[in-house]
Parts: sequence; C-alpha cells; structure tokens
Amino acid sequence: MAYQTVASLFSGIGGFEAGFAAAGLKTSLMCEKDPAARAVLRNQFPNIDLVEDVTLMARIPDCDVLVGGWPCQDLSQAGRMAGVDGDQSGLVAHVFRLLDATPKKPNTVVLENVAFSLNLQKGKAVQYVTSELAARGYRWAYRVLDTREFGLPHRRRRIFIVGMLEGDPGSILFDGIKRKAAEDDPPSHIGFYWTEGNRGVGWTPDAVPPLKGGSGLSIPSPPAIWTTATGLFQTPGIEDAERLQGFAAGWTAAARDDAKGDRGRWRLVGNAVSVPVAEWLGRGIAASDIAEVEYQDLGVETASQHNAAWGGPGQTSRYVPSAGEGPGDAKRVSVETFGLNDARTLSLRAAEGFLRRYMKSGLTKNHDFARALANHCGLSEVPA
Ligand SMILES: C[S@@+](CC[C@H](N)C(=O)[O-])C[C@H]1O[C@@H](n2cnc3c(N)ncnc32)[C@H](O)[C@@H]1O
Repeated sequence: MAYQTVASLFSGIGGFEAGFAAAGLKTSLMCEKDPAARAVLRNQFPNIDLVEDVTLMARIPDCDVLVGGWPCQDLSQAGRMAGVDGDQSGLVAHVFRLLDATPKKPNTVVLENVAFSLNLQKGKAVQYVTSELAARGYRWAYRVLDTREFGLPHRRRRIFIVGMLEGDPGSILFDGIKRKAAEDDPPSHIGFYWTEGNRGVGWTPDAVPPLKGGSGLSIPSPPAIWTTATGLFQTPGIEDAERLQGFAAGWTAAARDDAKGDRGRWRLVGNAVSVPVAEWLGRGIAASDIAEVEYQDLGVETASQHNAAWGGPGQTSRYVPSAGEGPGDAKRVSVETFGLNDARTLSLRAAEGFLRRYMKSGLTKNHDFARALANHCGLSEVPA
C-alpha cells in the first residue's frame, strides 16, 4: 500500500512528525510560528516545507492526514484557563477553516491537547472539536493516552482526538482500552516538582512528572527525582528531557540560545507530543488491515468523568468512564532502566526552599521524603 501523506499544523519540534515518520507516514508540510521551534524543525526535517503562521494559510496541500497539537495555554491547569475561546487555544478554529478551504479533505484528522481540557468548562473545547469534525462528515473518537504506558518513565496524560471520513477512528485509538495500568509498588524513584510545594508537588511514583512547556505565565523548569534507596535527589538535564519525550538526545540543540542557555529548549520539549505515542498512532493510521478492536460494550450514553469517547454524524456519542491509557502491548520502563545521562544533583538552595514550602503547606506529608530531603540539605532534622 502507498504511504499516507501528512500536513502538520502547530508542528512545534516535530513530535508527531518524528513518530509518524517512524511509522512510515510522509509529512509534506509543517507550520510553526515560534522561531526557536522553527530552527529545530529546519535542522531535523530539512526537506519538508515549513510555513510560519496558521492564520495566514489559505489552504493545506492534498494529503491523507491533517495533524495538529494545538496550543494548550488556555486549556491547561497551569495556564490561563480561558478555554477554547482564548487567543491561543482558539487557534484550533483554523484547522476547521482550512478543512473547509481544501477541496479534497484529508481522510484522517488527528488533534492533541492536555487531558485537563476534558475537565475545563465541562469539556467545552473537546465538544467544540468533535462537533466541528462531525459537521464535516467525520466520525470521531478520542482517548487520553499516557506516555508512561509507551516505554518511557514520564507521566504525561494527553487527549488524542481522531476524526475519519472513511474508516473507524476507534480501531486506531482504542487498542488496549480494556487494559488497566499496572500497579508498581514500592516505588524506587519518586518524581516531583521542586519549584512547587505549596498546593501540590506533582508526586509521581516511578516516573518523572509531566515535563511542562511553561504556561506563558511561568518559566519552564526541570522536575526532580528522588531515588528512595540512596537518598539521591537529581534533576534531569535537557538531553534526558528530550529522551523522556522519545526524541534523540540533542534533538533541540539548534534552539540553544547563547544568552539564555537551554531555557528555551525546556519550553519546546515540554510542549511536544511524545514520539512513541505518535508512532503508535501513526502505525494505526498506516495499517491497511487494522485489526478490529472490541470496545463498543464499554461505551455509555452519559458519564460526567470519562477518558475516552466516540461519535460522529448522526451517531449518539458514547463515553468510556475509565479507559486504559496505554496500548494493548503497554510496557512500563523504570527510571533506573531508562537511565538519566545528564542529570545533576538538586542544588541545596532549591532543596531547602522546597522543603520549607512543603513543611509549611497544608499538604499531607510523606515523612520519609521530608527526612531524606533534610538529609540531602545537611540538616540534622526536618524544619517545622
Ligand atoms: C502544543 S505546541 C505543539 C507541539 C508539537 N506537537 C510538538 O511535538 O512539538 C503548539 C505549537 O503551536 C505553535 N503556534 C502558536 N501559534 C501559531 C500560529 N499562529 N501558527 C503556527 N503555529 C503556531 C506554538 O509555537 C507551539 O509550538
């Protein structure tokens, strides 16, 4: 079967493009506004056309797949929470404007955003996207997928929405939907955000908490990892962060800024789609004989909380209250097996500041954690 062609909007540093390429799909056009991200795309994909601004595009080229992880600043918990009408997240409207302007519509549309968009304003952004897809004849399905279930020790829950004119988007997205996540205890590592400590810490057993791009309100910063057996506290380096998203180490080197160092690279990596998740979706799209996935019995007509759903023109939407968030052959990898190659010890200043905030906060305390941190800081006891 001939390969499928892809046009990409909001391309960032190319998480979708890298994953889709590994699955045998061929991207012919990318669109990205941010100069640092554009530098990475030019370096990594020198032969793919790159245009600058989705708002200035008149149409997309003929293609089989249109893909876009649209800006999340207005939809994420850390961000402005203005919703799908916000300046940035509202840019998704251009996906539909471009579909309308394109005589031969792509058979498949893939969109991605933060899982929190299912909660914010009762899921208004997701409803907007699915109703716009259905209005153009697309059947749709969506599902929250967690990078952790794709062989990387990085908790990153994102919603992936697939629309198809012909074919069943559920057969691409729902493999493994009946599988529950493995419980691993006791954890050998705990990921957390040393920059937090007042209202939460991003506590993540056996994985790194979601790498963040910065909401526009905050500066992206690396998380920390506590090795419980040794009491070591580390922060991953930028090349570890790239690998934690499934990119090769050094993927964003072209965005290094002599004045600001790697700060911009953290933002780009924190905004990206994890490559193995994109590859898995790409394989589903590329397969000429997608295996039937049994999932219909999971759907209910209403569910206030859910993490997967499907519907389409003339169809009653169905919701899955607790869908598995990994593929049928999900595999978890520990932080230890993954290995951090350019991590640094968490600075005493950062550790002390965090410990002070944590102990003063109303959060339920993990005393082993607090003692280990105090020890890391050279304190004889945990501060009150
Ligand atoms: C969530 S990120 C996408 C990340 C991407 N999927 C990746 O793997 O790196 C959204 C991207 O949309 C870009 N963007 C924002 N406004 C844009 C516009 N008007 N035209 C094109 N891209 C835009 C941002 O610069 C950002 O890189």
